[in-house]
Amino acid sequence: MQTHEIRERFTHHFVKAGHEAVPSASLILDDPNLLFVNAGMVPFKPYFLGQQTPPFPNGTATSIQKCVRTLDIEEVGITTRHNTFFQMAGNFSFGQYFKEGAITHAWSLLTSPIDEGGYGFDPEKIWVTVYLDDDEAANIWENVVGIPAERIQRLGMADNFWSMGIPGPCGPSSEIYYDRGPEYGNEGGPAADDSRYLEIWNLVFMEKERGAGTGKDNFEILGPLPKKNIDTGMGVERIACLLQGVDNVYETDLLRPVIDEAQRLTGATYGANHEDDIRFRVIADHSRTAMMIILDGVTPGNEGRGYILRRLLRRIIRSARLLGATGKTMESFMNTIMDTMTPSYPEIADNRERIQRVAITEETAFLKTLESGTELFETTAAKIKQEGKTTVAGADAFALHDTYGFPIDLTLEMAAEAGLQVDTEGFDKLMAEQRARAKADSQAKKHGHTDLSIYRDWVDNHPTEFIGYDELTAQSHVIGLLSDGKKVSEVSAGHDVEVILDASTFYAEAGGQIGDRGTMTLGDSLLRVNDVQKIGKKLWVHRATVETGGFALGDTVTAAVDPAWRHAARQAHSATHLIHAALREVLGPTAVQAGSMNKPGYLRFDFNYTEQLTPEQLEHIELITNQAVDADWQVNTIETTLDEAKTMGAMALFGENYGNIVRVVEIGGPFSMELCGGTHVAHSSQIGPVSILGESSIGSGARRIEAYSGLDSFKYLSKERTLVAGLASALKAPSAEVPDRIAQLTTKLKEAEKTIENLRKAELLAQGSRLVARAHLPNGITVASAVLPDGTTAGDLRTLAADVKNHLAGEAGVVLLASSTSDGKVPFVVAATKEAIARGANAGTIVKTLNPYIDGRGGGKPDMAQGSGSNPDGLPEGLKAASDHIATL
Ligand code: ALA
Repeated sequence: MQTHEIRERFTHHFVKAGHEAVPSASLILDDPNLLFVNAGMVPFKPYFLGQQTPPFPNGTATSIQKCVRTLDIEEVGITTRHNTFFQMAGNFSFGQYFKEGAITHAWSLLTSPIDEGGYGFDPEKIWVTVYLDDDEAANIWENVVGIPAERIQRLGMADNFWSMGIPGPCGPSSEIYYDRGPEYGNEGGPAADDSRYLEIWNLVFMEKERGAGTGKDNFEILGPLPKKNIDTGMGVERIACLLQGVDNVYETDLLRPVIDEAQRLTGATYGANHEDDIRFRVIADHSRTAMMIILDGVTPGNEGRGYILRRLLRRIIRSARLLGATGKTMESFMNTIMDTMTPSYPEIADNRERIQRVAITEETAFLKTLESGTELFETTAAKIKQEGKTTVAGADAFALHDTYGFPIDLTLEMAAEAGLQVDTEGFDKLMAEQRARAKADSQAKKHGHTDLSIYRDWVDNHPTEFIGYDELTAQSHVIGLLSDGKKVSEVSAGHDVEVILDASTFYAEAGGQIGDRGTMTLGDSLLRVNDVQKIGKKLWVHRATVETGGFALGDTVTAAVDPAWRHAARQAHSATHLIHAALREVLGPTAVQAGSMNKPGYLRFDFNYTEQLTPEQLEHIELITNQAVDADWQVNTIETTLDEAKTMGAMALFGENYGNIVRVVEIGGPFSMELCGGTHVAHSSQIGPVSILGESSIGSGARRIEAYSGLDSFKYLSKERTLVAGLASALKAPSAEVPDRIAQLTTKLKEAEKTIENLRKAELLAQGSRLVARAHLPNGITVASAVLPDGTTAGDLRTLAADVKNHLAGEAGVVLLASSTSDGKVPFVVAATKEAIARGANAGTIVKTLNPYIDGRGGGKPDMAQGSGSNPDGLPEGLKAASDHIATL
C-alpha cells in the first residue's frame, strides 16, 4: 500500500467517526521553545490547555501533521526507523471520548481487512504497552479488544508517559507495536526489543500539565488539565514500512527513489556494505527533510532552524561524496524527492524553483568550503604535529566548524587520515555551550523575561480584548501590573513597568508591525507606553514608563494610542502589502516573503531570492507600488475561515499559525490579498508616496527591500532633491548632468593624485639622497645611512634604499635607512650590494643587530631586509651598533 493511500485511509476512518479533518500546520509555529513542530498535537496545544475552545463541531479532530525531529540526527540510517521528517497521523479528542474510544478506534483501523478500508494487520502480531499503574487501559486492551494479557506490557515514565519535552500538556500513554518476526531480533515483546517490535502508534491520555524540567521523567506535574483529552500519533512511515514489506523506513515508496538516484549518481551500490547503506539512507532522509523545511520558508543560516537546514544539506553533500560523487548532486535529489512528495503536498508544485534555488546555492557554497577545507585542516594538523601533539584540540575542531562550517565528521575523518585524534568531548562541550547560548538568546529576545509562567493566569483566564482597529482611545481597567518581572499592586513615577488591561486599543507587535506607542492617564498620573508585546497570542503586555503620579490595580485609565504614530504605522503596513504585491509582479511567485518589519514611516521586506535586484527591477517595483497608491483603492478587511481565505487566493505567511477564523486584508482585489491582523489605511491613497531606499542580501538565498512611506517618504525625497540641487550648483551644471560631471571629476582627480605621488617620490629621492651620510669604514665597506623625516613610509624607504644602493654599485656598500614617524613607529630598510655580501654582509643579520635597540621586528634576505620598531629613542645607538657590526666583517 502506497503512503498516499495509508494517509487517505487514516483520514477517512476518523472523519467517518465524526472527526474534523484539519490540514497539517506549517513545520514552523510561533513557539520560542520549539524549532519545528515535533508532534501532531502541537497545533492543538491551546485546546488541550483549555486556553481556547476547540472550533470542531464534535470536539474531535484528525490530522496528518508534518513533523521534524533532529535530536536523533546521528541515528539516521543506523537504525531502521529514525526519520528526521515524518508524518504523524493522529486523532484528537478534547474532552470527548477517552481511553476506550482511543484504543478501539486505533484497533479497528489497524486490524480491519484491507478491502474494508483498514490496514489489515494480523491481530496476533500486535503487542501493546501501558503505563505502570494504568489498570484502566490494560483492562480495555484485554477485555474490550481481546489482546491476551501476555502481550500487554507495563513500562515506566521514560516509555509510557508523554510530553512535548517542554512545559505543556502531558499524560500516560499506551503504545502499539507490531512484531516483525524473529529475523529482526529477540523475543520478549517491546520491553525486550524495540527493533523487532516496531512501535507504530502512540495513544496519549492527555490529562495533566507539566512544568519545566529535563528528560522524559524529570519534571514537575503542575496539575490536571481542565478536561481529559486524547492525543494519538501513528507513524505513517512505519506503517508504510510494514505494509510495503521493506526492511526500513528509508526503503518505502517516498524515499527509495532517492536512494536509487544516489546509486546512479555515485556509482555505489545500495546493500553492498553497512557503512555505505547508512550514507544512502542519510541522503534519502535528509533530502526530504531539507526540502520540506525549505518549503515552509527556512533558508540555510548559522543558527536555529537555518543551521539545522544547513547541516542537513551538508550531510547530504558529504554522504554523496563519500559514496563517490564528484560533481553536484543536489538538484537531482531535490527533483526526485519533490516528485514523490507532491501527491500528498501539492503546494510543492508551486515552489519547485525556489526550493531548488535555496538548496543549490548552499551546495555551491559548501563545495567551495570542502575545497578550501583540506588546506585549512592541514594547517591545523601541521601546527599540532609541530608542537609534538597527537590530538586536535576541541577548540580547533570547534573553530573549524564554527568559522568555516566544517562538519565534525569531516574533521574526524581527515584527522584519522593524518594519524591524529580529535578531542570530541571538548568539541561537544563547546557545541553544547553554543547551543545553550543561542537558545537563551532567542528566548530572551522575544520577551523581556525568560520565565513566562508569571503571565499564565492572565493568558488562561483574562486574555486581552483588542479593540484598536477602529478606536484609538478607550477607558480600560488595569488588571495586572508588573515591575522587575514581579507582580505588584501599584506603581509610581520613575519606574519601568508592564501593564495588563482588560481591553486595549494598542496594537501589539505581530505580523511584522511593531507595537503602538501612546499613553495611559488617570487624573494627573501619566505613563508612556514604549512597546506592546503579545504573550501566547492572547495577552497584551504594555511596557511603559510611569512619568507622573502612580497607578494601581483596578484603576480605570484612559488608554490612548498616539494618533500620529498609528496613522504612520497604518501607512507603513499597507505600503508593505503593496510592495509585496509589486515584487511578485516583477520577480514572479518564487519571491516568497521571508519576513517583514514595519513601523511608522519605514518598512523592510525580506524575501527568498538568490540574485541581486537590478536598478530597473527596483524602479519597476516602486512604480507599481505608487500606481497602486494612486489608484485610491479601498482597503477591505474580511473575516472568514482559513479555507475560504485560501480559496480567495489570500497569501499566508510561512510559519504563521493561523486560527480557523482569519482576517484577510485586500487592496485592489486580486492585486494584494494577505492574511494579516495588522492595522491599515482605509484607502490606498492615504499611504502617500512610497520610496524604496535599496535592496541588499541578508544571507543565503534571501534579500531585503527597505522603503519609506507617507511623510517620511516625502521628507526623504525632498532631502535628496536638496542634495542634488546643492551638487548641481556646486558643479555649475544642470542636475541631469551631475552624474557625468562627477565621473569626469573623479577621473581627473585620480590622474592628479598620480602626478602628485610621482612628484613626491622624485622629491623624496632628491631630498633623501642629500640626507644620506656615507661613512667609509676602516675595513673598506661603505655605510650609507639616514634617518628620514616623518611621513616617509616603508615603501618610500625601499625606493630610496634601492636608489642609494644603485649609486654604490661596484663597491662594498650597505644602506641603512629608517624614519622616525610621529606615531612612534620606526620603519627601517637595510640593503647590501653584491660586493658587500661577498665580504660577509647580510641585510637580514644586520636587521637583527638593530632590532633590540628599537624594539623592532623584521628580517629578510642578504641583499634586502626590512622591519619596524617602536622605540625611536634607540635609533642612534641602534644604527651605531649596526655600523660597528659591519666594521667587524
Ligand atoms: N503526541 C504523541 C507523540 O508524539 C502522540 O507520540
